[in-house]
Order: sequence, then structure tokens, then C-alpha cells
Amino acid sequence: MNPKRVAILISGGGSNMVTLVDSMTGDHPARPCLVLSNEASAGGLAKAAARSVPTAVVDHRPFGKDRAAFEAELIKPILEAGADIVCLAGFMRVLTAGFVDRFQGRMLNIHPSLLPKYKGLHTHARALAAGDTEHGCTVHEVTSELDDGPILGQARVAIEPGDTPETLAARVLIWEHKLYPAVLRRFAAGDRRPVWLP
Ligand code: GRF
Repeated sequence: MNPKRVAILISGGGSNMVTLVDSMTGDHPARPCLVLSNEASAGGLAKAAARSVPTAVVDHRPFGKDRAAFEAELIKPILEAGADIVCLAGFMRVLTAGFVDRFQGRMLNIHPSLLPKYKGLHTHARALAAGDTEHGCTVHEVTSELDDGPILGQARVAIEPGDTPETLAARVLIWEHKLYPAVLRRFAAGDRRPVWLP
């Protein structure tokens, strides 16, 4: 069977992208076809190139507030790569409904909270400030509503005494690296049953 082609969008170090790329081997039903960043300085680009994954950069800055114009360029390498699935992995631009609709049902994102709690930014600090005893990460289908969409997996992480946003983020990231590959493998096989970790 022809493997599904996966484009991964990043803005930074790309640690989630690396775990996704490294997971797509052997009998995995998908293969990476592109790593695309809005930041030319994204450290993940070199990591993708080192893994022989084609890369591209579409800088959002020249487009200013014209999101649609940026997205009209952003979509080009994704279409040229023939992507069947798009994975957002530390991609820090909000996408409009126009872009999202093009990939409805085949675009995933990982968010560092137990959605629907803590949509948006600074999730670890907010969980600590709320006195939560647990936190975690969620992989969900991307819809035009930010950090919403059907949940495809979650990993729960205990908050420990003395945790700071940094120590908590580091522990959640370990579970992001377990969750996202597990969800992608199941999703690429056409199975949308959620993955619950641990
Ligand atoms: C991670 O915390 C992820 O949850 C969020 O971006 C952060 C950095 O991810 N989406 P990565 O190391 O660039 O994959």
C-alpha cells in the first residue's frame, strides 16, 4: 500500500517533528514528505535535512497582517509535496479557516495542555497558577477554532511539588514525544480511536 505522505509544519527546534520523522519507518503507514517552517532560523530545519526530509521556508513577515496572502504561499510547498496529512508541531502561527478547510479532517496539532483546558499560550504556568495536580498534552484535529477540534489523544502528567513552568514543560514534552507518534500511526492507518497515555 502506498504510504500516506506527511508534511510537518514547525517554527522552532522541532523536537516533536524529529520524533514524528523518526517514527515513520518499516511498516508504519506514513512517510514524511516535507518539513515546512515560517522561520528561516528554525533549528528543526537542519534536523529534517539531516534526516533527508525535504524542507521549505515561507517567512510570514513580508505578509504583515495579511494572513490569507501568507497562507496562499504556505500551501504551495505542501501541495507540491503531495501531502495527504499535515502535522503542526510547534508551529506558532494561527491559521485561518480558509487554510484549515483545505485540510479538514487531515490536519493534526499537538498542544501542551489537557484540552479543553488552557487553550492558547503559557499553558504550564496557567496550570501551576490554578493549583492543578495534573497537566499534559493533547493531539487534536485542527479546525478553524484555535486549539479546538476532535481529540485524537492525550497524555496525563502529574504536577510535582516545586514544579516550575520550565520543569513541567520539560516533563510534558517527554510525553508529547510519545503521544504524537502513537496518534499519527493510528491516524494514518485510518483509525481515529483516541490514544490515552500513560
Ligand atoms: C512544544 O511544547 C509543543 O507542545 C508546542 O511547541 C513546543 C515546542 O515544540 N506546540 P517543538 O520542540 O518545536 O516540537
